[in-house]
Amino acid sequence: MKALVVYFSFEGNTKLVAKKISETINADLVELKTSKVYPKEGIGKFFWGGKSVIFGEKPELINQPIDMKQYDVIIIGTPVWAGTFAPPIKSLISQYPIQGKKIGMFACHGGGGAAKCFEKLKKALPGNEFLSVIDFVEPLRKSDGNTTKAIKWAEGLNISKDI
Ligand SMILES: Cc1cc2nc3c(=O)[nH]c(=O)nc-3n(C[C@H](O)[C@H](O)[C@H](O)COP(=O)(O)O)c2cc1C
Repeated sequence: MKALVVYFSFEGNTKLVAKKISETINADLVELKTSKVYPKEGIGKFFWGGKSVIFGEKPELINQPIDMKQYDVIIIGTPVWAGTFAPPIKSLISQYPIQGKKIGMFACHGGGGAAKCFEKLKKALPGNEFLSVIDFVEPLRKSDGNTTKAIKWAEGLNISKDI
């Protein structure tokens, strides 16, 4: 089985987890990048990020095209933004047909909203089989326990490393 870990990370938490998971299951790794740059400082980051979620924005991605056909398993990683997945994940879903895949999900957050986030992400991806999900509270600040947690979860997916 060939696997892809695809994620968006604004401040590095989701990136940290994505790397651990992709290393563990020997998956390709793609970080979604947007042409629009969200403000990183102060209240502005919550304002623009929140507004972007509320208005259902699909920011333009500047990644090289992803050949989804070659993957059996797709692991999607996102920070929780305003109780849901971040807008670049919406862009991914609208830009690429993701059907008939095994989908795993993980999310990083500040303390709440992961269950809703996964629920919404599943709704946005009909026609797929869902693997387990896992969430992490600010792993950059607590990288030790979270790193082990990410590795264990990835191992538990039982994805063959023989690509
Ligand atoms: C615009 C915005 C909205 C957020 N909304 C939530 C939220 O609803 N619930 C929550 O627990 N954390 C929320 N957070 C915190 C992030 O989910 C958390 O810091 C996460 O670890 C960031 O992941 P990243 O470093 O990969 O971007 C929000 C952060 C931003 C910037």
